[in-house]
Amino acid sequence: MKLIHKYGAPLFVIGSPVEHTFSPYIHNRAFEAAGLEHRYFALQVEKGELEQFIDLCEQLQSPGANLTLPHKETICSAIPNKNSEVERLQAANTIYRRHGELRLANTDLFGFRRLIEPWVEKIRDEGVLLLGAGGAARACLLGFEQENCKKIFLWNRTTRKALELQEEFPELQLEVLDQKQLNNGEFSASVVVNATSVGLKADEPVLVPKAVIRSDMVGIDLIYNRETRFVKSFKRLGSEATGGLDMLVHQAARSWELWTDQQAPTKAMFAAVGGLLSGI
Ligand code: ATR
Repeated sequence: MKLIHKYGAPLFVIGSPVEHTFSPYIHNRAFEAAGLEHRYFALQVEKGELEQFIDLCEQLQSPGANLTLPHKETICSAIPNKNSEVERLQAANTIYRRHGELRLANTDLFGFRRLIEPWVEKIRDEGVLLLGAGGAARACLLGFEQENCKKIFLWNRTTRKALELQEEFPELQLEVLDQKQLNNGEFSASVVVNATSVGLKADEPVLVPKAVIRSDMVGIDLIYNRETRFVKSFKRLGSEATGGLDMLVHQAARSWELWTDQQAPTKAMFAAVGGLLSGI
């Protein structure tokens, strides 16, 4: 069996579910803008089908793929070549090829650092409150560590998971907050980052109480598919706030650059996302 790459080798985003991903729109627009004949597809791959997918990549000589739920962690034991960030997070969102071999990268981390870039000094000087203790929050903590932002308050619905992260990041001055401390504003931070999944669905509550939001604070939500109530409540109080769109596009751009060895056409990628969101 041999694929004739008349239209360029295919790339994929794999996951389950994978129907709602923006990635094919972003990457196909980027390939088009750069005049490359690759095509990028969403492929439903179940938990037990990862090895089969890797075989497919090899057969098609695919330049790579993106990974989403439930494959970000399990891919780490299937592909041995990974950089130190993937080793540290034990999670990857990108497969790419170097010298013929498949390798892993975590470009979410790069995307997160681009998202917080305008406020890094503020985070460094005045501290940050991070909500969540899942995979996304773990990537945020490594991002803070790399940016030398050490003063971190961490809250999670399940406090035990926050305490586990505290042990995992001894370099950070990480203080775990319980619900009462969060509600009473017993933290010293000027930037609040939502790394939970709360807000993905419309009308989900804001986890940080209104009474503790100050007008000199910045609210950053990793959720990008809509303006969340979290973002709205910061804006309403006169604070700066943003969703996760910049992170989405910059992680995509970084993956694209690993696949193509070219600078990503980020303008075209932002335009693709803008078009999708205006249709929601
Ligand atoms: P991801 O990889 O996107 O981080 P995850 O690892 O499943 O996904 O983590 C989801 C995060 O959202 C967790 O911090 C979770 O809190 P728990 O650890 O207590 O489960 C948080 N989360 C999900 N639903 C929540 C809710 N209704 N209220 C508060 N936090 C919630």
